[in-house]
Amino acid sequence: MSRPGSRPLGCVVAGLLLASCGDRDAQWRAVLGVPRALQLPAIPENNPPTEAKLQLGRRLFYDVRLSGNQTQSCASCHDQKLAFTDGKKTAVGSTGHVLTRNAQGLQNAAYNSTLTWANDGLIALESQLAVPIRNDRPVELGVNDGNVSAVLARFENDSRYPAAFRAAFPESASGPTVEKIIFALATFCRSLVGADSPYDRYLAGDKSALTDSQKRGLALFNGERLECFHCHSGSNLTTSYRDARTTEDTATYPFFNNGLYNLDGGYPPQDQGLYEVTLRKDDRGRFRPQSLRNVALTAPYMHDGSLATLDDVLSHYAAGGTVTASGPLAGDGRLNPLKSGLIRGFVLTAEERGDVLAFLNALTDVGFVENPAFAAAED
Ligand code: HEC
Ligand code: HEC
Repeated sequence: MSRPGSRPLGCVVAGLLLASCGDRDAQWRAVLGVPRALQLPAIPENNPPTEAKLQLGRRLFYDVRLSGNQTQSCASCHDQKLAFTDGKKTAVGSTGHVLTRNAQGLQNAAYNSTLTWANDGLIALESQLAVPIRNDRPVELGVNDGNVSAVLARFENDSRYPAAFRAAFPESASGPTVEKIIFALATFCRSLVGADSPYDRYLAGDKSALTDSQKRGLALFNGERLECFHCHSGSNLTTSYRDARTTEDTATYPFFNNGLYNLDGGYPPQDQGLYEVTLRKDDRGRFRPQSLRNVALTAPYMHDGSLATLDDVLSHYAAGGTVTASGPLAGDGRLNPLKSGLIRGFVLTAEERGDVLAFLNALTDVGFVENPAFAAAED
């Protein structure tokens, strides 16, 4: 039985002890623009979303002054037209460093149970966003102890930012800080939500939203021959999922080795996935199942962008892994001893392959990639 006194602290809004969870959640959904088909994402108690914070985050997301040398913004690697990816194999930082990983799409990123391709310790956007801003190995935006005051001064001395920071953080008298920048950006990222692809409309009851070929592709995707759904299921087509209702007891943190490489049982030394964080040998090559929202727009594929097209991705799964014939990465990924048991390989006819590809194309959410609320502000 629930007792009134046992209401979680999270339902206290700005000192209004009587505000109910329902009111608060409805208000947060409205600020973030969460569509009915989606749950409210998990939101840390110390960063409640407000319109002022979201708009500050949006402005910062598109501002190159956030990089040390003022050449790059978040949007340089996360372009809305490409569902917030960059079209590159692996991203390139503001000082020209080539990263080892492919830039991730940001639609519904707030629902991933862990953030980035392989890190079981990053579960809040507020912690993850320090990485692109402060990372020095390799440099992304290149903000560091040496230039952070100069970067913040750019915002302090701007004609509009000081008022925007005050509106977003009315409880704080100090001007722009890295923490406030991160909290505002996290709020903007949490608002990058949508569920209006043909597949979403089909799930919502519009049986004509998918073509017959896409429907056959969906059945294959959800069938035991291809096994895709074991790792790519739920509202973002990934089992890495949590929302405001998820508790520590119900959270899951999936990571899999899907047989892309085999260098003496491991993955290339520049990126061994989850192993880089845990140093557990069994975690070599384990990555988070990626959300497949807008997947037709986010080529190239996988953590290192090594598969150029969705057709290549299907060939990878059909073979039960990727064989690299020569060069420093040579090896038979199909035989990687740490490969998930669900990556077994299968045979597809040409027609079936076309159907699965047609289904993957039905995950494109045009309303999301064209939503003016996610673009740079006009002024
Ligand atoms: C130099 C390119 C680059 C820049 C600049 C950049 N990112 Fe990223 N972003 C990436 C890459 C690459 C990844 C995957 C990182 C990994 O797996 O280690 C990523 C991952 C993310 C994720 C995690 C998504 C998920 O599904 O887990 C978020 C959120 C994100 N970036 C937001 C931002 C924001 C906000 C900014 C600006 C402060 C930013 N990024 C700047 C390249 C970039
Ligand atoms: C055992 C779990 C598992 C199964 C089964 C699985 N996937 Fe994946 N999928 C993953 C993981 C993990 C990644 C990321 C791997 C990496 O980057 O090394 C991924 C990545 C992808 C990507 C690349 C996404 C991107 O943005 O780069 C696509 C597309 C994809 N999977 C489609 C499929 C399809 C289609 C099937 C069925 C034929 C399937 N997956 C079966 C776990 C799985």
